[in-house]
Amino acid sequence: MKILFIADIVGNSGRKILSDKLAGFLDKEKPDFVIANAENAAAGKGLTRAIAQELFSLGINVITMGNHTFDRKEIVEIMDDPRILRPANYPPGVPGQGWGIYTASTNEAVGVINLMGRVYLPLIDCPFRAADAVIEQIRRETKVIFVDMHAEVTSEKSAITHYLDGRVSAVVGTHTHVQTADDGVRLSGTASLTDAGMTGPDEGVIGMDRDTVLKKFLTGMPQHFVEAQGDAVMQGCIVDVDAVTGMTRTIKRFSINTRGTK
Ligand code: FE2
Repeated sequence: MKILFIADIVGNSGRKILSDKLAGFLDKEKPDFVIANAENAAAGKGLTRAIAQELFSLGINVITMGNHTFDRKEIVEIMDDPRILRPANYPPGVPGQGWGIYTASTNEAVGVINLMGRVYLPLIDCPFRAADAVIEQIRRETKVIFVDMHAEVTSEKSAITHYLDGRVSAVVGTHTHVQTADDGVRLSGTASLTDAGMTGPDEGVIGMDRDTVLKKFLTGMPQHFVEAQGDAVMQGCIVDVDAVTGMTRTIKRFSINTRGTK
């Protein structure tokens, strides 16, 4: 089973490059299931009902989120849609769900888990122990399990990859918006990539307008960040999973920009 993961979609530029390039990319790669992180899809912060619908209409099956999940109040109205996941390690009582089991185009079941790290991010429950509990439930139905670990630091993402090696198909990191070059399959068959990158503006500071970000760094004063304009990039990875064992054969990252230089 081929699973396509689209890295953090940021604002208009991210959605525009998806509407321009995703259909052709799907034709070429023929994934059986498509997951995208969209916590920055609405002008760089959060997600709206209309944007979620737009992303689903482009062929995305499941949307994962992160620390910006609840930045827009209207998200709560659509959090009961099982195709939208927020981190599973939010405390009990938080709206929405952190995992789900879906059907790929091969008719096989695929589990998806969204987790969030706790280093340099809002302190929520332990992602390691949340993963333990969820994996046990999903593995009763399928061994194909894709994890989006939304986290700031490499060490936390690497640690959870080793913790989950052999129990899930892939652990792919999101949040930093900078794609890492460490895609590979770990010793017990779990694919990993520390960060999948970004689908959004290519010329800003991790997607935001560089002038406002520079002003913050140069003056120390708070700034209202807006998304960067100009060229865009579409990044992510594709994993090829053995649907019987749930282990991954290959993982390959991709990076495509509007100028064709990536
Ligand atoms: Fe984030």
